[in-house]
Amino acid sequence: MPNEPCGIIAVYPGSFDPITNGHLDLIERASRLFERLIVAILRNEAKKPLFSVEERVEMAREVLRGYPNVEVASFGGLLVEFAASRGARVILRGIRAISDYEYELQMALMNRRLAPDIETVFLMAAEDYSFLSARLVKEVVALGGDVSGLVPPLVEERLRKRLAKAG
Ligand code: PNS
Repeated sequence: MPNEPCGIIAVYPGSFDPITNGHLDLIERASRLFERLIVAILRNEAKKPLFSVEERVEMAREVLRGYPNVEVASFGGLLVEFAASRGARVILRGIRAISDYEYELQMALMNRRLAPDIETVFLMAAEDYSFLSARLVKEVVALGGDVSGLVPPLVEERLRKRLAKAG
């Protein structure tokens, strides 16, 4: 069995507000499948993110330093246009539970309609993180709970500072 990545560039899009260990697990596995993986962070001020896009990019870059074929970028507008501009043939998404499926299917089919040459590829989240979401992590930290092991230490520290400030 060949053990080399397949020469394909993949884009892994999301809000990453902030990046969690669930994301990192997926990135780690995908970095072994694809020649190059671009973690693409959405500029989504309308979603009122906790961290600015610059902060989200900076945290992701810091925790992904050890992956030479993984790049972190931000994007606005249509995902398929960003993917095409970077020569990516694959959009990568993670699926945690069956409840993710409907939303993911809608996005994948819309993206296929917009750009039939770009395939959406799904990886299953690791069992340990199948309950994990950035939204819940923020809620738990805001209420004083422990999220160690669910986000990198650097992200945990930034969350505590930000949410303490928010009062
Ligand atoms: O982490 P999220 O919030 O589930 O990620 C959602 C994301 C960024 C993948 C999605 O909102 C997106 O692709 N936005 C870009 C706008 C776009 O291309 N929309 C049309 C296709 S669904």
